Amino acid sequence: MSTVVLLAGSPSQRSRSTTLLQRAGALLAGHGARTQAFSLADFPSDDLLHARWDSPAIRRFIDALAAADGLIVATPVYKAAYSGALKAVLDLLPERALEQKAALALATGGSPGHLLAVDYALQPVLSALKARHIVGGVYATDRDFTLQEDGSYQVGEDIDARLHHAVGRLIAHLPNPGSVELHPEALSRQVAAARISI
Ligand SMILES: Cc1cc2nc3c(=O)[nH]c(=O)nc-3n(C[C@H](O)[C@H](O)[C@H](O)COP(=O)(O)O)c2cc1C
Repeated sequence: MSTVVLLAGSPSQRSRSTTLLQRAGALLAGHGARTQAFSLADFPSDDLLHARWDSPAIRRFIDALAAADGLIVATPVYKAAYSGALKAVLDLLPERALEQKAALALATGGSPGHLLAVDYALQPVLSALKARHIVGGVYATDRDFTLQEDGSYQVGEDIDARLHHAVGRLIAHLPNPGSVELHPEALSRQVAAARISI
């Protein structure tokens, strides 16, 4: 069975980008993939601030990643880039942490103006970590989310449809799709739509 690690890069407890990530995780699970979720809360801030390469929390994350077939990262746009705390985590990964893995980036921002932040800021980092495939990401703005009575966010239909496609593309590029289900026609569409293949 394929495993995909989910990494939430927002420091906010009630987070739109994490909502996207959770939705992507649910879609993956619906396709038969296993997911393992991490958030910034899993990493002691002191370890991140002092770049402790031997941090047990970072070690756990590295091990999970090493055993996984793919990674989905979600981040808010902060100052036209991704969150600094997410960078602090990614900085502690080994150089080839994403070798042979497929990766997908999800981002939310206050306005559409920073739509390309994922492309010019986060995707180069995923490339530097030697991701084998980086599939086209999903960007949503705050207006795409509705706050529910229970305090959670609901994502609009348009973004949900884009998440479906992005998750399909990711599945098509998992090195070891195993029992993950994807119809052959959908698979070839997703392969054709992938943005970067190394
Ligand atoms: C410190 C900070 C910086 C931000 N910078 C930007 C920005 O440069 N561009 C933008 O579109 N939104 C910016 N925003 C808005 C957030 O990206 C947006 O609200 C996002 O959906 C928050 O995601 P989250 O709920 O997952 O934390 C910023 C928000 C904060 C708190």
